[in-house]
Amino acid sequence: MFRSDSAPVTLVFTAERPNYCFEVRNKDDPSEFPERKLKLVREIYGAVLVWRGLLKCLLLSWNMCMFCVTFPVAEWVVVSCLIHRRLGQKPIWRHLVTDTILITGGAGFIGRYVARACLERGHKVRVLDSLIEQVHGDRTQADGLGPDVEVVVGDVRDEAALLRALKGATKVVHLAAEVGVGQSMYAVDRYVSVNDYGTAVLFQQLIDNPVKRVVVASSMSIYGEGLYKDPDGRIREDVVRTPRANESDPWDPLDEQGRSLIPVPTPEWKKPALASVYALSKYVQERLTLTLCPAYGMEGVALRLWNAYGPGQALSNPYTGVLAIFASRLHNGQPPMIFEDGQQRRDFVHVEDVAQAFVLALEHEKAPGGVYNVGSGQDRTVSEVAELLSQAMNRPMAPEIAGKARIGDIRHCIADISKIQQELSYQPGKDFAEGLAELAEWVAKQEAKDLVNEARRELEARGLVA
Ligand SMILES: NC(=O)c1ccc[n+]([C@@H]2O[C@H](COP(=O)([O-])OP(=O)(O)OC[C@H]3O[C@@H](n4cnc5c(N)ncnc54)[C@H](O)[C@@H]3O)[C@@H](O)[C@H]2O)c1
Repeated sequence: MFRSDSAPVTLVFTAERPNYCFEVRNKDDPSEFPERKLKLVREIYGAVLVWRGLLKCLLLSWNMCMFCVTFPVAEWVVVSCLIHRRLGQKPIWRHLVTDTILITGGAGFIGRYVARACLERGHKVRVLDSLIEQVHGDRTQADGLGPDVEVVVGDVRDEAALLRALKGATKVVHLAAEVGVGQSMYAVDRYVSVNDYGTAVLFQQLIDNPVKRVVVASSMSIYGEGLYKDPDGRIREDVVRTPRANESDPWDPLDEQGRSLIPVPTPEWKKPALASVYALSKYVQERLTLTLCPAYGMEGVALRLWNAYGPGQALSNPYTGVLAIFASRLHNGQPPMIFEDGQQRRDFVHVEDVAQAFVLALEHEKAPGGVYNVGSGQDRTVSEVAELLSQAMNRPMAPEIAGKARIGDIRHCIADISKIQQELSYQPGKDFAEGLAELAEWVAKQEAKDLVNEARRELEARGLVA
């Protein structure tokens, strides 16, 4: 029982009575109970009840709100974390931590797409590029990078330029290179200097200024001939093509019994077979990255790219980019020029998918130490691609078949992309027809110098076409 004597009336709460019920008695004379005081008590009691009811409602609705808002948010965070963890992707909280990514050769074709993809992921991007004439013509400024990218114009072999570019960088994408199989067979000093010495200078600086991760662009060319199987279904890893003795000899590599070998997707475990100076220099880049990164506490990743295509590829560079070369010819009213018989098989991968692979290689926790093929997973003959492009550009023209091979070129090499799909969740998304249509639309608005015949003459003059 609770008794209060301070009020003009005595309030008595009893255990037997239900909640809020009480007896009211006059202090002096418990039998006397003035009506006015009873009214007052009723009013106070009523107000207390209303107030408590309101408070309960408020608390209830607050709790409901909190429940409705916080529970789904918490649930989303937990589920997303689990999914990211399962896929091995960057944890959600790390999206708040951005990297400063230095892209060497970042003003080039692939570099611009990688820069854009990195910006979209919230990273800061800096580019080091010497804007070589073969790719950029007489331009002295990088095109198509946008105002958010910091550009350092300089050579990857120049220590001072590299130091400036590396300041504050946390990751590096190494793309700077001379690119072209045929040309590498006569411009040997240039290719070895830029590709190999350039990578050496980069790592010399990285030893004193380490970053978290370096991703290098390697190439399918390091495989030489891709993987084959013979007509009995046996896998052949060691295929080397010998020059044809007669015009009537087949282009395809043959087994010991003279039977044509069948190309099958080439996985990363296939041993390199370096058939050109370019391939050799790309392999050196790859090995320098994978040897030096772990030695100095950095993470190294190598991406072996197949034939990238898409809007923005240098149209006046006749040494690289099969589709850009064909497009440039068609744009100038000339048929695409194809070496051999046009039945060589390759994998043409859209540059946006290549950029996706670079982002995964930069961010994925399983990528360090890895070597990954990057392709579309679909192979096509070079002739088929030339034909599809001429249709997309609305310039129906049969390709010119050279019937001769370039020294250093391989016959077939198609990509097995299962490793990058399984480990890094890479998913090439661009439909080939759609990619060609985009390319055709872009080419229609460009000017392109057709230098294919000059490039061919350069090779022929040195006996590099047979
Ligand atoms: N495009 C493909 O199909 C393909 C296939 C396999 C591998 N790759 C590799 O991917 C990388 C990028 O290729 P891309 O197609 O964008 O070529 P690209 O020629 O368009 O870009 C290369 C960039 O490197 C720059 N560069 C050249 N020498 C330099 C130097 N000494 N210092 C600084 N910058 C220099 C060039 O100015 C150019 O902007 C290259 O390493 C290439 O070997 C490309």
